[in-house]
Amino acid sequence: MKKISILLSLLVILVFLLAACGGDEATEAPADVPEEAEEEPEAEPEMADQLEIFSWWTAGGEADGLLAMYDVFSAQHPDIEIINATVAGGAGSNAKAVLATRMQAGDPPDSFQVHAGHELIDSWVVADAMEPVTFIFEENGWLESYPPGVIEVLSHEGEIWSVPVNIHRSNVLWYNTAVFEDNGLEVPVSFDDFFAAAETLSAAGITPLALGDNGIWASTHLMEDVLLGALGPEAYRGLWTGETKWGSPEVTTALNTFARMMEYANEDHAALSWDQAAQLVADGDAAMTIMGDWAEGYFLSIGMEPEVDFGWAPSPSTPGTFMMLSDTFGLPAGAPHRDSAVAWLTVAGSKEGQDAFNPLKGSIPARTDGDRELYDAYLQSAMDDFASNEITPSVAHGAAASEGWVTAINDVMTFFTADLDVVAAQEGMIAACEDAAVCEEGDTIVVGEDTLTDIGTEAHPIKVLFVPSVDVDFMIESGDLIEQALNEATGLVYEVSVPSSYPATIEEMCASPDDTIGFLPAMGYALANRVCGVEPGLASVRYGWNVYFAEFIARRDSGIDTLADLEGKTWGYGETSSTSGFLVPSALLNELGITTGEMVETGGHTPTVNAVYNGEVDFGTVFFSPPLLPEGEWQEGDPPDIPDELVPECGLNDEGKLWCGGYRVLDARQTISEQAPDVVQVVKIVDISQGIPNDTMSFGSDFPEELKQMIIEAVIAFVQSDERCLESLCNPQFYEWTDASLIYDENFDTIRLMMEEQGITLENIGQ
Ligand code: GAL
Repeated sequence: MKKISILLSLLVILVFLLAACGGDEATEAPADVPEEAEEEPEAEPEMADQLEIFSWWTAGGEADGLLAMYDVFSAQHPDIEIINATVAGGAGSNAKAVLATRMQAGDPPDSFQVHAGHELIDSWVVADAMEPVTFIFEENGWLESYPPGVIEVLSHEGEIWSVPVNIHRSNVLWYNTAVFEDNGLEVPVSFDDFFAAAETLSAAGITPLALGDNGIWASTHLMEDVLLGALGPEAYRGLWTGETKWGSPEVTTALNTFARMMEYANEDHAALSWDQAAQLVADGDAAMTIMGDWAEGYFLSIGMEPEVDFGWAPSPSTPGTFMMLSDTFGLPAGAPHRDSAVAWLTVAGSKEGQDAFNPLKGSIPARTDGDRELYDAYLQSAMDDFASNEITPSVAHGAAASEGWVTAINDVMTFFTADLDVVAAQEGMIAACEDAAVCEEGDTIVVGEDTLTDIGTEAHPIKVLFVPSVDVDFMIESGDLIEQALNEATGLVYEVSVPSSYPATIEEMCASPDDTIGFLPAMGYALANRVCGVEPGLASVRYGWNVYFAEFIARRDSGIDTLADLEGKTWGYGETSSTSGFLVPSALLNELGITTGEMVETGGHTPTVNAVYNGEVDFGTVFFSPPLLPEGEWQEGDPPDIPDELVPECGLNDEGKLWCGGYRVLDARQTISEQAPDVVQVVKIVDISQGIPNDTMSFGSDFPEELKQMIIEAVIAFVQSDERCLESLCNPQFYEWTDASLIYDENFDTIRLMMEEQGITLENIGQ
């Protein structure tokens, strides 16, 4: 909250600075702001022949429309001098603060621009700052000339409080026709269409979406259209009455969608105004912009032709709904030139005034009797839609909510556009509604399917980390394939990387517990689990198993039958760094309190088997792979060796493979079977360890459960049936996965024991 109030003060200061500098070059008579609000305004003699109109219409199109209406006025009242008091900044982002200061100081303009709805009523009417204008409607017979719905949003306690000059539509997507044609694009109807088009455009090096939110209202504007698309008209309306919960999953979806859209927006959006963003589209540097139809006024003002140079459609997923706002002019209580003001309002509300103004402004008349022929193809389509669509009120432009609430939403958007933190934004929106006293306290974010966070969106990709092992370039290349395949299978967005070391990988998973996946070997998993609760998902399967084992072997004639018999015996092993060849057996022996005799490092699994076979050592430790059985499958807990009665039959078959009756030997003994086909007759398995998991795919401790399940399924399918696996996970040069299956934390107990024995920690792992 503190941050927000600091920001607000900064904004207010900025507004003062802008106002003090005159703000905008196009302003003919910059609004003057008293330096001290408390100071009494200088008493000016009232000049009957003046009229000060206050607005923020300075950009192409809007300024032209205003001048056209001034022309109508001047033709009727040549004796009245118009003072065009404008403060630049779309949606009144600067003007409203200047107006507020003037009104407070008792220095109102003769008439000012104000949006129909809450902005008019809550800010000015209930504050007794306005004079009703019902009499103007009555005198001119206008009560029949305006749609009842429009009159309603201008009314309070039986009076009408301002004169509407137009109806604007907020939910319009504008696009550059040539850019769309060149890229073979259809006009997007839904969010999916939009993102598909955005992808194509990105790939072609064109900014998909132009945004100019140096006035943050432009992002609020985009947000309202995204909310409408995600919620539909009824639930959208409910947001402003308290009926729709801001904590609902639909709002989360909308926020996620917005965050995803931002990934396709021009990077300098915070430096541009709405019309500069429209110019990007005009220039073909960007393909689309989502903006109110004053953008059409802007396009017309720079000589573009509707349907030829630019096209339009309802913003994504909003066809059939017209997000509406209306610019109106009011009569402030104590207007210095009240008669001029009444004359102005009479022109502004007239058919002639509106038909001069709106075709240039890019809006349709608020009156029902506008001359359709004067309006171009876009505006005619807007007239038709306004007459037939569902109507929803714009929040960015004052129709839906009070200015205080809009300001709070703008503040949320200031942070959200910078950090794309969906949860924080949703919390901010909930608080804003509560502060506006429309929502009851206690609304919280409701977790819905896949909507908890933005994890897995462009804005917040899931990080996939590989422990550096094989060639890093190869890993990154294959990482791209995995990224693609996972994206296709789950619709989520991933980012593969290879951190610089084993501990760095674990640290990254710990630092980012809700969005990381690590391909960790068993020891890495056990450590990461201990350090920060990383959870197992899958382990790779090789030869049907997602675990492997260590075995203790000895000569059948050695008299060694159990591990206890190994006390004092000579021990052959490959190397001290080998998990199945040394680390695991040594931990088991220590745990049993068995002290062996001499230890002989043989260099590998094969020499160890040889050393046992030749009687150079009493026993050896090597890898165990379960035998293939004549029927069924070997299960953990089954005897590891070939049944005694079949041992005499063991030997090489025609293909040189070691078989014993129907059993095929796959453990380390088979590595010397060529030179020693009787290896099974000579060397037996004394015992084996518990299963040691193969390399894993593990998840950060706070990884959203639904996403995890979805990803696990996708990876299993990828390994089982996607050709791209052969170029990545399944490649023998890489991880050589032949399949993948679920693995559980208890499967790592043996490895934990071993690491404890060895004193393996995050600091010394891999050394
Ligand atoms: C809106 C206003 C429009 C247009 C736009 C950009 O709030 O209603 O008329 O001027 O801001 O400035």
